[in-house]
Amino acid sequence: MKKKGIILAAGNATRLYPGTIPFGKPFLPIYDKPMIFYPLSILLQSGVRDILIVTAPRDKALFHALLGDGSQFGAAISYIEQPVARGIADAFILGESFIDGDPVCLVLCDNFFYGEGLDEAIEKGWKNAGTGATIFCQHVSNPSCYGVVSFNNSDKVIGLTEKPQTFISNWAATGLYIYDGRACALAKTLAPSKRGELEITDLNNLYLEQEELRSIKFHKDFLWFDLGTYASILEAGNLVAKIESRDHVRIGCPYIAAYQAGYIDEQGLLDAAKTVGNPVYAASLRNTAAMSLMPDESISKDNRI
Ligand code: G1P
Repeated sequence: MKKKGIILAAGNATRLYPGTIPFGKPFLPIYDKPMIFYPLSILLQSGVRDILIVTAPRDKALFHALLGDGSQFGAAISYIEQPVARGIADAFILGESFIDGDPVCLVLCDNFFYGEGLDEAIEKGWKNAGTGATIFCQHVSNPSCYGVVSFNNSDKVIGLTEKPQTFISNWAATGLYIYDGRACALAKTLAPSKRGELEITDLNNLYLEQEELRSIKFHKDFLWFDLGTYASILEAGNLVAKIESRDHVRIGCPYIAAYQAGYIDEQGLLDAAKTVGNPVYAASLRNTAAMSLMPDESISKDNRI
């Protein structure tokens, strides 16, 4: 059983025009890296090496130029076009042969996650991935913008509603999901919603009906952004800049994620440092490699720069 990963990075992002007229949202920078680097790093760090990127046709060549086949990260990245935005759950229909019955983590390209508990939460999701689905929830003040999750007094999910217009709960389903291999077959049974999309919320409700939907709540301090507006893109970018300079960590760096996951070694980081161009980026890769060679036990093999 392999862990598979899908990044949904299609769509025309018309709400972000004119910035997204020539290319899609995944290439917009979140501070100093393209948006796609953040979900990609999450997948790599969680032990996923087989990754499918669902792309709009116009962006496919750009993805190839940016990420290639993923071998530089010790991973295998492939691409599939979604010609028309048919909804998030369509990723499982498009990705059926890639998934091939294995468990799969789906992450939306425009979702930004940062904070304590992320790695543990995903690991827990993977542990249960043999059967059922896991959703990851965050407390929000504007639930009508999201898929909303209601819980009973024992913290069990009792319902999911896509963008409810009346208040149901403050818990949003984030754009991170782990499913068993049945997701493809179930996605095919979905009917398009009023907005003409195969809704991920409908797929999650199918798992819920079968009592096979699990949920993990992120801590209230956890940082989650849906990067659907320039305001949230700016907010996430400012946050990355602040954390990277204050804590000397590098967020959303696929090379470092791949190194931490053991897919590339110190030499891989040093080789990458020669090719990335950006001197700050190159220095952080060299420093990450150097850290692991330092004798001081107090300096761990983490992502300090
Ligand atoms: C989508 C999902 C929604 C989820 C959100 C997270 O919304 O449909 O359930 O809460 O992503 O970002 P959309 O981006 O389609 O508005």
